[in-house]
Amino acid sequence: MKLLVTGGAGFIGSNFVHYTVKNRPEHSITVVDKLTYAGNKSNLEPVADKIEFVQGDICDAELMDKLVSETDIVVHFAAESHNDNSLREPWPFVETNIVGTYTILEAVRKHQKRLHHISTDEVFGDLEIDDPNRFTEETPYNPSSPYSSTKAGSDHLVSAWIRSFGIQATISNCSNNYGPYQHIEKFIPRQITNILSDIKPKLYGEGLNVRDWIHVDDHNEAVHLILDKGVSGETYIIGADNDHTNNKMVIEMICELMGKPKDWYEHVTDRPGHDMRYAMDSSKLRRELGWQPRYTDNNGMREGLKQTIAWYEANRDWWQTEKDAVEAAYAKQGQ
Ligand code: NAD
Ligand code: TYD
Repeated sequence: MKLLVTGGAGFIGSNFVHYTVKNRPEHSITVVDKLTYAGNKSNLEPVADKIEFVQGDICDAELMDKLVSETDIVVHFAAESHNDNSLREPWPFVETNIVGTYTILEAVRKHQKRLHHISTDEVFGDLEIDDPNRFTEETPYNPSSPYSSTKAGSDHLVSAWIRSFGIQATISNCSNNYGPYQHIEKFIPRQITNILSDIKPKLYGEGLNVRDWIHVDDHNEAVHLILDKGVSGETYIIGADNDHTNNKMVIEMICELMGKPKDWYEHVTDRPGHDMRYAMDSSKLRRELGWQPRYTDNNGMREGLKQTIAWYEANRDWWQTEKDAVEAAYAKQGQ
């Protein structure tokens, strides 16, 4: 199959491209990526001779029309993806996440291609700490931030194009990812690169917020299963059942794995509207498509974090030049 991977120079997209080249060589890949601050062409350097790369904007209707006409399946990762940035400047989120997804949908409709749309658990809003429920495919949308509301908008567009125009499409909503090539503005790489820079990790508020952490390879294996066996019109929840680990525990684990005392971190100003807890029920994906994540429970997360720490240690050139600017932007907000 010919895959058009949008946002393939970003964190999850580049890991998807690496995974596909290594494990699914029967697919050919074209990446389209605008190379915003979050996209880095060097992420694709190890596979550069095996893929085609196009620098371009998913809001560019003419470009998307051409690229979609030449592919079999669009795997749509491109997005503005960071909550804290969406609170500072919401417009790029509306533009890329909503207008960009609309532009892809119109090209998919015209050329009758298949789409897999990558989304997030954040569209469901949050749960109370002691709420025993988890998000399912039936949970109503209730997003909190400009990021999550624009992702929710993009999901609704996909669902409407399926229903109104009969396009072939699937959606997946995944929990928080970690792994190599993640931008250092995000929680886990920020703390790892803080410690590597002799800066104390920064915990928002009390740090009791819970995310359902999943290794990026587990996410991408699920995406491949959906491409192989997913039923058009269906949504699949992806989560690795790590929803008992709060942010404080994650920082303590990172400190311990990096040889620092467990309490070598500082509390900083909390994020406005900070979602408390996300938890995912991925039983549909496991039952219907046979998905099984590898990095589950505390031991799996420790193993995934160890590998991730080793990657940031070995790839200082990849993040070092941006570190001061990222920290300066956070410092302005007391974070
Ligand atoms: P990222 O910010 O690391 O990468 C996004 C990529 O999209 C970058 O390469 C960027 O250059 C590109 N891009 C942005 N705007 C573009 C545009 N207008 N046209 C073309 N390319 C553009 O994001 P990520 O963490 O890899 O997330 C990928 C997808 O997965 C997003 O849709 C996100 O909502 C979703 N998701 C992320 C997580 C997570 O934990 N990171 C969890 C669930 C879902
Ligand atoms: P983040 O990686 O921004 O992902 P999301 O907002 O999509 O969940 O943040 C993950 C969690 O970590 C979230 O609860 C906010 C918190 N956080 C910190 O405590 N310190 C930090 O420096 C950052 C960036 C996030």
